[in-house]
Amino acid sequence: MKKNNIHNLSSKLFAKIFNAKEDNLPLLAKQAIKKANFKYQIVEGKEYNEAILKIIKTLDSKNLKIAGPHRLADWENGWKENLAEFRRSRYNLSQLIPKFVKKGEYIRFQSDFIKPENDSFENDFVTVMRYYLFTKYYKKANTLYEFGAGTGLNLVAASEIFPKMKLIGLDWAESTADIINVLREKLNINISAKRFNLFKPDEEYHLDKDSGVLTIGTLEQLGKNFEPFINYLLKNKPMICINVETLYEIYDQENLLDYLAMKYSEQRNYLRGFLSYLKKLEAKKKIKIIDIRRTFGSFYHDGYTYLVWKPL
Ligand SMILES: C[S@@+](CC[C@H](N)C(=O)[O-])C[C@H]1O[C@@H](n2cnc3c(N)ncnc32)[C@H](O)[C@@H]1O
Repeated sequence: MKKNNIHNLSSKLFAKIFNAKEDNLPLLAKQAIKKANFKYQIVEGKEYNEAILKIIKTLDSKNLKIAGPHRLADWENGWKENLAEFRRSRYNLSQLIPKFVKKGEYIRFQSDFIKPENDSFENDFVTVMRYYLFTKYYKKANTLYEFGAGTGLNLVAASEIFPKMKLIGLDWAESTADIINVLREKLNINISAKRFNLFKPDEEYHLDKDSGVLTIGTLEQLGKNFEPFINYLLKNKPMICINVETLYEIYDQENLLDYLAMKYSEQRNYLRGFLSYLKKLEAKKKIKIIDIRRTFGSFYHDGYTYLVWKPL
């Protein structure tokens, strides 16, 4: 990597990624950009080739974990570990950052691989994106439901923007509810939990009027089995839905990094067909798609593309 190849992800560039005006970025997002180190280099030459080779070897090994109903115990155990570390650290929120947020790996950004100067680039980018999306789209919502809430950090971010909003973290893992109960007690925020399986949505559980829905890296786990959840949302008619997910259909087969991400999604049985399905629903006037933006991705795929839509 050349020395003169240092770039910075500035608030101007963030605004461009979100298709927003720089001045209109929420204050919390601006502060998060200022606080973080978003300097990076573009990965080229030998390092780039080595990264591509690593991906191909990983795909060839066929050792990747496949998403699906059999993975529940893995999620339970993962979140249990986070909870134990959260308690041990006397409730330091950084212990709730999921372990799949890898430090020190290359990041996919604007059709390149980049090497961030700081290890927490992925987490810092997500922090900025959450402030931006939540402020823009949830301001009229009374209740926010996060499906696949994991360690609850996305809802904690929502509580900073909207201290009075009712926040509900849903997950099939019981350990999510354990973490959320601790968060309510220790942070004194309006948050609660419910067990919910996206493969078999509980039809008796109704969303509040004027609610927002969020998923981040959760629908990815459903493979092609997302219809029960979409039907559930169509019946419950939330005001607005944001999905920050890997979207198979936005990848460009003619682009090497994209092509490898598609193969990765296929092998892991990650979300496929979701965007096409929503587009069909839009054509039938059942939903309206408000925005789709590619932001960045981790080493193997672009898990942070966001899609904003609402049932009609
Ligand atoms: C990649 S994690 C993302 C967690 C959180 N949204 C975040 O941004 O850190 C995926 C989450 O989806 C949950 N999940 C996976 N399959 C699910 C299902 N069928 N029903 C409910 N939750 C599920 C997992 O337990 C896990 O908490």
